[in-house]
Amino acid sequence: MDERFYITTPIYYVNAEPHLGHAYTTVVADVQRRFHRLIGKETFFLTGTDEHGDKIVQAAKKMGVSPKEYTDIISQKFRETWPLLNIVPDRFIRTTDPEHKKTVQLILQKVYDQGDIEFREYEGLYCFGCERFLIERELEDGKCPDHKVEPTPLKEKNYFFLMSKYQDWLIDHIKKNPEFIQPKRYKNEVLSFLKDPLEDLCISRPKSRLSWGIPLPFDEGFVTYVWFDALINYLTGLDYPEGERFKRFWGVTHHVIAKDILKPHGIYWPIMLHAIGLSPYKSLHVHGYWRIKEEKMSKSLGNIIRPKWLVDNFGVDQTRYCLMREMSFGLDANFSYESFVTRINADLANDLGNLLSRSITMVQKYRKGLVPEERNLDGPQDELRHEAKGLVAKWKELMDSFSVHSALSEVWKVLNLANKVIDKTAPWALFKEEKDSKVLDDVLYTLLETLRLSAVMISPVMPEASKRIIESLGMDQEKELSKEGLFWGRLISGTGTKKVKHLFPRIGPSKKEAKEEAQKKDKKVDKGKKMEEKTSVITIDDFSKVDLRIAEIVDAQKHPNADRLLVLRVRCPDERTIVAGIAQAFSPDELIGKKVVVVSNLKPVKLRGVESKGMLLVAKDTSGLHLLEISKDTEPGAKVS
Ligand code: ME8
Repeated sequence: MDERFYITTPIYYVNAEPHLGHAYTTVVADVQRRFHRLIGKETFFLTGTDEHGDKIVQAAKKMGVSPKEYTDIISQKFRETWPLLNIVPDRFIRTTDPEHKKTVQLILQKVYDQGDIEFREYEGLYCFGCERFLIERELEDGKCPDHKVEPTPLKEKNYFFLMSKYQDWLIDHIKKNPEFIQPKRYKNEVLSFLKDPLEDLCISRPKSRLSWGIPLPFDEGFVTYVWFDALINYLTGLDYPEGERFKRFWGVTHHVIAKDILKPHGIYWPIMLHAIGLSPYKSLHVHGYWRIKEEKMSKSLGNIIRPKWLVDNFGVDQTRYCLMREMSFGLDANFSYESFVTRINADLANDLGNLLSRSITMVQKYRKGLVPEERNLDGPQDELRHEAKGLVAKWKELMDSFSVHSALSEVWKVLNLANKVIDKTAPWALFKEEKDSKVLDDVLYTLLETLRLSAVMISPVMPEASKRIIESLGMDQEKELSKEGLFWGRLISGTGTKKVKHLFPRIGPSKKEAKEEAQKKDKKVDKGKKMEEKTSVITIDDFSKVDLRIAEIVDAQKHPNADRLLVLRVRCPDERTIVAGIAQAFSPDELIGKKVVVVSNLKPVKLRGVESKGMLLVAKDTSGLHLLEISKDTEPGAKVS
């Protein structure tokens, strides 16, 4: 195991203020840093802002201030947002910092001197949103799929970084290092991109067109452009080349990004690093998009949720929990107010909050508030003890692989088991029968120790709630919230416990919302009734409403909350998620690459928290389930009629 851990977020553009998407990535990084620190590593966490380029100049103009004034204002907004979410980076870097300019120029000169940069004319389709030239294959209906605008044809003389000569090295490196790009589907995406010859990367802009950038050290008439400037922040952040931090942390670098910037991070960046003689990062962790009503949330589409709004409505730990729990890392997720409220009320107020308050109340009633002795007796509590002990190794593995959603789901399985233990053992009856019952001691001890251990495991996600739980159990916060705390049996009998007030208050719907909700439900019931009245004979017209398509399965994963379900990413031809109840019959790996038949026009539904857009068709007989597979030559999206 590495002893150190270096984690970064993208540096965010300052052409607009922080939103839920930025908050998610930055919470992921904060959770990872807290996790690795918890298990005893030395950590470093870097975030910051990306401040050069066309977009910034345009945004500054709109506000009627200079680019410098503008970047100072917005960068400060990012800096001020992170404490609201209890995100604590070690360094906040800005690409306008003088030391960053020095690092970029140093690297440019090195690459130029060794002949990896060339001056030539280029003509291509440029997307100002992505700040790069796009190739035809990347366009959808002639438009950039992320920014929904047609790219602009551009022709000018510029400096190019000759990436193609490192292409084979990169392919080899990706294949030899399975943890290099994660989850696997993004590794496959990068490898598939690398099947075509790489175009060289345009890294400059003439100063006459854009002066808001870092001047090329070998040609004052040009500034360097976007990616060559931005990616290098990960080195400046460690005081490359001579800094102590660089020496300590470069070998253990983990980058977190969303899939929008996979290409720069999966291709340009490792090649840049290789070109200057550095080992590439250890892992790139790529997540999906937060969507609102099926659209990616983004500045350009204007459907923005602000971090402050989240915290004001839900609370800090609650927001962090919901962000981590509602998105399976790597897949897209839909944000809705309702889904967060449901999570908070069910998981936090009910499962965890009630468990803590019930357990402490019983200890106060039956054991004068003092932790009883563990008796290691048989019974439902013994199963709980066993499960809780066994959870630590699994939790560690899931957290380490960025599957925080699954790690939380595993902790909640144990918390739910603890709630069941109370119902099954009925401590009130045990007490009635025999006041100093050893079984009662054992049940109460096991409940409290399960809570303590769970508090340690959820502490990277909910640091404040964890501290309050540890405090209510009469334990030392600092000692418990460390790697020592990850062992079973640390609660000492005789320790005084305290009640906690409102660990996670329930969020009730307002009266108006409750009424609307009730009306919605009523409508559904009516609809259902009408459906029942219909017979099961259908007409051709009815059948023609069903849109059957060939879909290629590009990724398959276990559902984070349900053993029966798999989460499939399919192309038919648009990419979407389908949740299918086939986990018992197929393993995720055997499905990837298969072409199957799906119903593509079903109304989206949420299945255990993951939205499903469509339905996979399978045949069922006495031997089980069979896929309706089709020949490999059929194009994804082909209509089945
Ligand atoms: O790309 N869902 O900056 P950026 C999830 N400056 N994450 C989202 C998101 C969404 N809807 N929208 C944004 C840049 N993000 C460059 C990066 S790095 C050397 C330079 C998050 O402000 C996600 O992390 O457009 C995504 O990769 C990043 O914000 C893009 O931020």
